[in-house]
Amino acid sequence: MPSLSNSDELIFFVNGRKVIEKNADPEVYLLFYLRKILHLTGTKYSCGSGGCGACTVMVSRYDPKTKKIHHYPVTACLVPICSLHGAAVTTVEGVGSIKTRIHPVQERLAKCHGTQCGFCSPGMVMSIYTLLRNHPEPTPEQITEALGGNLCRCTGYRPIVESGKTFCAESTVCQMKGSGKCCMDQEEKSFTSRQEKMCTKLYNEDEFQPFDPTQEPIFPPELIRMAEDPNKRRLTFRGKRTTWITPVNLNDLLELKTSFPEAPIIMGNTAVGPSIKFRDEFHPVFISPLGLQELYFVDSTDDGVTIGAGYSLAQLNDALRFIVSEQPKEKTKTYHALLKHLRTLAGAQIRNMATLGGHVVSRPNYSDLNPILAAGNATINLISKEGKRQIPLDGRFLEKSPEANLKSEETVLSVYIPHSTQWHFVSGLRIAQRQENAFAIVNAGMSVKFEDGTDTIKELQMFYGSVGPTVVSASKTCQQLIGRKWNDQMLSDACRLVLDEIYIPPDAEGGMVEYRRTLIISLLFKFYLKVRRGLNKMDPHKFPDIPEKFVSALEDFPIETPQGIQMFQCVDPHQPPQDPVGHPVMHQSAIKHTTGEAVFVDDMPPISQELFLAVVTSTRAHAKIILIDTSAALALPGVVDVITAEDVPGDNSYQGEIFYAQNEVICVGQIVCTVAADTYAHAKEAAKKVRIVYEDLEPRIITIEQALEHNSFLSAEKKIEQGDVEQAFKYVDQIIEGKVHVEGQEHFYMETQTILAIPQEEDKEMVLHLGTQFQTHVQEYVAAALSIPRNRIACHTKRAGGAFGGKVSKPALLGAVSAVAAKKTGRPIRFILERGDDMLITAGRHPLLGKYKIGFMNNGVIKAADIEYYINGGCSPDESELVMEFMVLRSENAYYIPNFRCRGRPCKTNLPSNTAFRGFGFPQGIVVGEAYITAVASQCDLTPEQVKEINMYKRTSRTAHKQTFNPEPLRRCWKECLEKSSFSARKLAAEEFNKKNYWKKRGLAAVPMKFTVGMPTAFYNQAAALVHIYLDGSVLVSHSGCELGQGLHTKMIQVASRELNIPESYIHLSETNTTTVSNATFTAGSMGTDINGKAVQNACQILKARLEPVIRKNPRGTWEAWISEAYKESISLSTTGYFKGYQTNMDWKKGEGNAFPYFVYGASCSEVEVDCLTGAHKLLRTDIFMDAAFSINPAVDIGQIEGAFVQGMGFYTIEELKYSPEGVLYSRGPDDYKIPTVTEIPEEFNVTLVHSQNPIAIYSSKGLGEAGMFLGSSVLFAIYDAVAAARRERGLTKTFTLSSPATPELIRMTCVDQFTDMIPRDDPSTFTPWSIHVS
Ligand SMILES: Cc1cc2nc3c(=O)[nH]c(=O)nc-3n(C[C@H](O)[C@H](O)[C@H](O)COP(=O)(O)OP(=O)(O)OC[C@H]3O[C@@H](n4cnc5c(N)ncnc54)[C@H](O)[C@@H]3O)c2cc1C
Ligand code: FES
Ligand code: FES
Repeated sequence: MPSLSNSDELIFFVNGRKVIEKNADPEVYLLFYLRKILHLTGTKYSCGSGGCGACTVMVSRYDPKTKKIHHYPVTACLVPICSLHGAAVTTVEGVGSIKTRIHPVQERLAKCHGTQCGFCSPGMVMSIYTLLRNHPEPTPEQITEALGGNLCRCTGYRPIVESGKTFCAESTVCQMKGSGKCCMDQEEKSFTSRQEKMCTKLYNEDEFQPFDPTQEPIFPPELIRMAEDPNKRRLTFRGKRTTWITPVNLNDLLELKTSFPEAPIIMGNTAVGPSIKFRDEFHPVFISPLGLQELYFVDSTDDGVTIGAGYSLAQLNDALRFIVSEQPKEKTKTYHALLKHLRTLAGAQIRNMATLGGHVVSRPNYSDLNPILAAGNATINLISKEGKRQIPLDGRFLEKSPEANLKSEETVLSVYIPHSTQWHFVSGLRIAQRQENAFAIVNAGMSVKFEDGTDTIKELQMFYGSVGPTVVSASKTCQQLIGRKWNDQMLSDACRLVLDEIYIPPDAEGGMVEYRRTLIISLLFKFYLKVRRGLNKMDPHKFPDIPEKFVSALEDFPIETPQGIQMFQCVDPHQPPQDPVGHPVMHQSAIKHTTGEAVFVDDMPPISQELFLAVVTSTRAHAKIILIDTSAALALPGVVDVITAEDVPGDNSYQGEIFYAQNEVICVGQIVCTVAADTYAHAKEAAKKVRIVYEDLEPRIITIEQALEHNSFLSAEKKIEQGDVEQAFKYVDQIIEGKVHVEGQEHFYMETQTILAIPQEEDKEMVLHLGTQFQTHVQEYVAAALSIPRNRIACHTKRAGGAFGGKVSKPALLGAVSAVAAKKTGRPIRFILERGDDMLITAGRHPLLGKYKIGFMNNGVIKAADIEYYINGGCSPDESELVMEFMVLRSENAYYIPNFRCRGRPCKTNLPSNTAFRGFGFPQGIVVGEAYITAVASQCDLTPEQVKEINMYKRTSRTAHKQTFNPEPLRRCWKECLEKSSFSARKLAAEEFNKKNYWKKRGLAAVPMKFTVGMPTAFYNQAAALVHIYLDGSVLVSHSGCELGQGLHTKMIQVASRELNIPESYIHLSETNTTTVSNATFTAGSMGTDINGKAVQNACQILKARLEPVIRKNPRGTWEAWISEAYKESISLSTTGYFKGYQTNMDWKKGEGNAFPYFVYGASCSEVEVDCLTGAHKLLRTDIFMDAAFSINPAVDIGQIEGAFVQGMGFYTIEELKYSPEGVLYSRGPDDYKIPTVTEIPEEFNVTLVHSQNPIAIYSSKGLGEAGMFLGSSVLFAIYDAVAAARRERGLTKTFTLSSPATPELIRMTCVDQFTDMIPRDDPSTFTPWSIHVS
């Protein structure tokens, strides 16, 4: 290797401060640098792969050519610091801070309730802030576009978008779409009939500080001078293992490319970065011509446009938009096709980082642009020291034929894209699991040229992505069709030929084989229709138009900016103004979330001597461990120790959970050992070197079916029964039987499991900081693992960055693992699970197999139901038995079935152990109920809603487990939902739409809900609080609940404020820990506010009673004076509060009990449109009516409902975990597991809190943390409705199985048609599929 000069200084700015890095290491990324070197922890790590946006920062660069400053968002996790020379970076800390001044973006996101856990908030702030730096008065579309690369798992996005919309030119906040009235007018929205005023204002815009774009920090003048320096020279940054070289000009670049032909050219690093991080690629030298003027240009001629390889995809977008606005339409068909895909390719951050050159050269098989560029006859302009040459961007290049490749010393200078011509059509087509920011399942670029004035094919090109290891060309097919007329016969032949030419083997990586085969021809059909339409436009007499019914097949769903109305009961005008209960109070930490000052565990500063932990997990589902060889790992620099089962001083196996695998492994992903090292990079490197020898064991059980075959269960059957089911079946008109599969779900909390375990010098004490829902459990497991009493273990939880049930039991296991490491090494342990490890190890929602047998009358009355549930529990007990109990208890949902039996058992398999997840079994179990209702409706020629109505509980009744309840609020929610959403009228309109459209169908569904809160075991419902009043009058509240983003602490402050009759500002809530409140139960089951509220209330009332004599003596005194006086009178100003818990019970022997303190009711209705050709769907509208009784904080409650709904909608539609037949989880990050983004939420999203009474709970409120989740199933059943319409039209069977999730694959393959009939089918016994379902 030629020698390199010594390292140069890397100079860039962060938040206006100059950073000079003398030893810049090319392997160091900006996210790490910000968080660990500069200690700017506002920017968050969540995925490390550019897919979530949590690490978004703004990069600004000065362009000496245009003399303009360019601001753009990037994901810091993919930006090598060496690429930042001369750039200014702005992080959330640089935007605003509580210590100085908060920025309007931060203020509005907080005040609009756009933050819950706050982990995504800094990224959201940076995306909106960057947009405002470029467009101070953005359009709503720009807001939605700017947020497309940012994931939020809590809020459901609606309030985030709304906060952004407050910056738009016209006030777009008014949500009464099309009504001509303002939603903010409270009088207009009152339901006078019920004597209850309804409010719609969750925040007050008048409180917002004005936004003045002129007040933003200036770009550092020094960087301008650097950029304009005529004596710039080559820069070299030498790291420990790698070298980064920034050439000074094009010649220099060519020189370097000759010297280091194997070195990658780093532009956006969005292809190279992930390969290094996740596929262990290594490059000793990087060449980075980022910013090299010669690569940035647009050159437009009469024939086409040449675009510099350095242009980012965002700049390419802008350039194409300009060209499209300038050129006649017939010349711009390729550009239009590219623009369409550029809108949805990744998120805004990646589009601003990734470059045209990088995209073309990296040739991802899923590329959205290359198939179109090839179809548009683009060429690549190359340059090397040898000179310039052009190569076609064609099939051979995309298929990576060696002779069509770049030579290693060549660089792409630019890409030439010719204009389209008159008798020439170009299209881009794609379908992905999610509309934006998701790799295509299949995409295509197609073009056809006709003999002038005819429909005779002169030239045809078809390129497909995601059908093989590279983009492929259907060149033979195209060749054979030359000279043919563009008609149905040609199409039919084309489909047959292309299916022959492009073969996806049955075991192909990525799975979905039959679906992808179908897409190949479905997309071709779309292209066929588009071209026919285009020909007709050119000569309507010569070329007949496509049937009117087919027109809607032409376009993809548009991306709209969501809007909606949130309605809740106004506060009683007689309530004292200081009393915050019932008001939409902002989350206690909201401003800190948006400024990045809210501290999460990994934001805590380094502790002296701390070590980082990396895990080594099992690669086998069931195997004997023959050997663990740690020698190579221990020999690596920085490695301090490897910890195995041998090192556990106490119990390694506790309550059936194993901390470190010993002798055998029982799932892929089980922790075998951990490596402790001075840095995470060292720990991870060493973890890769641990060698484990396995010997596979039988049986290996992965699916529920396999578990049933092996009789493999985690616990005994749970059953409830009423009436006489067998007898009833004898007297019914009809009986149906069916099976429903519901797959699992990943929590995808934005903050991965993170633990700081700090061993203390004295008395074997151990302190743990972690985000958990159940500190007592952590304490218990750590005590067991270390064999020390619980009083030596202190757990601290300030906040968790989302939890959703995933932080109930798993932190205990991980806490024990890290505490053992801390104990063994005697040093603090920082254990941050990478996203992939988190998804692999901690598992998620239980997949379900539901079986039903239903007896019913021809009028829709269900007389008998026999239900069986089996869930995939995984390899250890965790909470599976409890989940099954809940599932069985709630199985009847809102329906009274006189003869009802439900039985369920959790299966033991060799998958990671599934665990609690919002709704705790209900969202899965109830799909079975709604599925058989739908099937009954179909048999009786009724609508599902009619059958629901007929069988719904109508009066005070007893549940199947014999608990009395009054369903009045259920009926009200249901009725209002149908009426206020104009369900019947819209259903008719959808039917009309369906009659007129063959390939797109609309569907509507409404679902009622009877949900439960709390636990059937009384002692789990207890809670405690500790309240101190200090002598200055300030109050510190502690209680047993953890803040997970659900606003629990905010509500507790509201409670304390009301009870003590003091302003909220007097009250502080710092954290939850085991030293102030002991033996706390979990924060789950929607009962956080219920039980902790009662405990806080109790403590405050005790204190208030103690203060009463003092107040009586001086009734006009101030709070401070009373406290001072009380102290002087030796009155204790500190007390615990306690809530014994709801007195619930359940006798499983009898199958009866008052299992729940109360029920929560609700209903939702959704309308979708389905693309029958691709399986895509669009959620047009959702209306939710939720029985909130009296809402303590409507903003928090609506936030919970909306967030849970969107999470539920994701679960029922796009979130899909993929397992290999050997039990390996493939989906381990945002690239291959898609949670909803801003583009998935309903275009119109209305939520109403319905008022009722609930005297048992604090202030007559109800726990609403989970209930919204199941309401997401209205989307699943709306899809079912739309698919049913398609099937009816195609003369297919009425009843069909639609499992969950209703992915594009499932939708497409259920809409059977001539295309699905054409594809080759494989005999399942002849191959092993890439992935399997585990339900
Ligand atoms: C989160 C995420 C989501 C994504 N989503 C999508 C998507 O939906 N659809 C899609 O199509 N793509 C998607 N991508 C892929 C993305 O489009 C490509 O990674 C990107 O275009 C590569 O460009 P880059 O500048 O970052 O390349 P780099 O990573 O910098 O370089 C990639 C390769 O190109 C070579 N190279 C770069 N420039 C030149 C040049 N001028 N001359 C010669 N060689 C060069 C390098 O040597 C290297 O081998 C996604 C990527 C990420 C990270
Ligand atoms: S952490 Fe960078 S995008 Fe997710
Ligand atoms: S608030 Fe967005 S992830 Fe929690």
